[in-house]
Amino acid sequence: MGLKEILPVYQSRVETALENWLPGDHVEPVRLHQAMRYAVLGGGKRIRPVLLYACGQTFGIDLQALDGLAAAVEMIHAYSLIHDDLPAMDDDDLRRGKPTCHKAFDEATAILAGDALQVLAFHVMAHDPEITVNAEQRIKMINTLAVTSGSLGMAGGQAIDLASVGVSLTIEQLENMHNHKTGSLIRASVQLGALSKQGLAPDQFEIITEFSRHIGLAFQVQDDILDVEADTATLGKPQGSDMLKNKPTYPGILGMTNAKRVARELHARAIQSLEPLQYDSSLLRQIADYIVQRSS
Ligand code: IPE
Ligand code: IPE
Ligand code: MG
Ligand code: MG
Ligand code: MG
Repeated sequence: MGLKEILPVYQSRVETALENWLPGDHVEPVRLHQAMRYAVLGGGKRIRPVLLYACGQTFGIDLQALDGLAAAVEMIHAYSLIHDDLPAMDDDDLRRGKPTCHKAFDEATAILAGDALQVLAFHVMAHDPEITVNAEQRIKMINTLAVTSGSLGMAGGQAIDLASVGVSLTIEQLENMHNHKTGSLIRASVQLGALSKQGLAPDQFEIITEFSRHIGLAFQVQDDILDVEADTATLGKPQGSDMLKNKPTYPGILGMTNAKRVARELHARAIQSLEPLQYDSSLLRQIADYIVQRSS
């Protein structure tokens, strides 16, 4: 099966897993649970779960052993988006084609929904009976997601982003910011798929990690490009938000032509990094294509 056929399968599996793990919207405190479900369900490309499933399948893991992990990374991602959109951060009103969580609810509820989603992700990883690895490996998985989402990963990247408003960064500093705020969770998604294969050879784990570094950066470069070139309706979030907020971006620092060249180079490096993989990498290669060709 190609990516086109498998994408809806992965997307629908993670939707079901998320639906199952999220408390119902009649469970008290109702407003908080409604906000969590509003921010998570029925939207987004689900690229992190897709990567996790594809990576797990590359190593021969059953999808049901990956559902909880896929839901967990998407919960962390959804929490990061809720907080990213807050007035204290990017102050955006539209996400996934609908009002942002703090607009649909209120700021305090949005902050709490993010908090609760973050810890729910770790509950799922600790608790999901379908995860087949032993306890030691499960702790490794939990630690991977904890480190990549924290101050040395995504949250740290967001801090750098906020400190960089109106600042002229070098390309190395911009790359570092993007690797943290976006690359980290993409790396975690790939690594959780790989960690699902207990006993995977360390060199194979390193190869897949290297792949994730290139596509993780490429993903945010493309996000910056789309912020300039796409339209709000296609994006489902406000076009031009970066320029408006004076954020350093690849097109802003390098110009659009060079930003697109960087995206192509990162894609080429990602594909190249898969060459020594001793497993069928066709699905991962197709995801790399998708990441730089996507229009939303
Ligand atoms: C947006 O992520 C934020 C970034 C890290 C670039 P996505 O582009 O994956 O957003 P959704 O999940 O599809 O809405
Ligand atoms: C967001 O980067 C990164 C995280 C949410 C961790 P952006 O601020 O560029 O994401 P969008 O463009 O709002 O989706
Ligand atoms: Mg942001
Ligand atoms: Mg933003
Ligand atoms: Mg953006």
